[in-house]
Amino acid sequence: MEIIFASANKNKIAEVAAMFPPNIRLLGLKEIGITEDIPEPGTTIQENSFLKAQYVVQRLKELNRQLPVFADDSGLEAEALNKAPGVYSARYAGTPKNDAANNAKLLEELKNHTNRHARFVTIITYIENGKVQQFEGEIKGTIAYEPRGTGGFGYDPLFIPQGYRSTFSELSVNTKNTISHRAMAVKKLVDFI
Ligand code: IMP
Repeated sequence: MEIIFASANKNKIAEVAAMFPPNIRLLGLKEIGITEDIPEPGTTIQENSFLKAQYVVQRLKELNRQLPVFADDSGLEAEALNKAPGVYSARYAGTPKNDAANNAKLLEELKNHTNRHARFVTIITYIENGKVQQFEGEIKGTIAYEPRGTGGFGYDPLFIPQGYRSTFSELSVNTKNTISHRAMAVKKLVDFI
């Protein structure tokens, strides 16, 4: 069985593909000839996840192909900031996207808050034969007072998952990929399929 993962990010595709059984082959966007950036005009993570999947379904129609498609959208939600940066996580400090600036802005916004609770959330939208299903994965944790560690991307240097003392950046890739919000959402999708 072949399924399209609405992503052009090779590392992400490899990470997610490793969680699927061997009889399911994941195709990235480039493999089916979709090379443009997919618009993300939504105002929630859930909406953007749906819009990305729907966009690819539409493009497949134009290419006269029909395959199951899924898209993911993720973000960090800080309790004290009313769930910001949320859907705006990638460009919290403005464009172009800059992880270090985003982390600095998050620390600045939280500097007067003792509530450091946050969660990462991923919503996957799966569309097969016009039927839409969504799966949510989350990991709870806290935001550190300064960046720690060199691994990962995004807010990894600041996010300490519940039950750990290290940030995502300090943990091994394997550990992060086993407990992450994305892994939880992908697991639900795999179980469903
Ligand atoms: P995306 O939807 O997976 O592209 O995630 C959107 C943004 O959320 C990223 O650009 C990061 O800023 C942040 N983010 C999502 N997942 C993670 C993660 O696992 N670690 C750190 N930051 C993340």
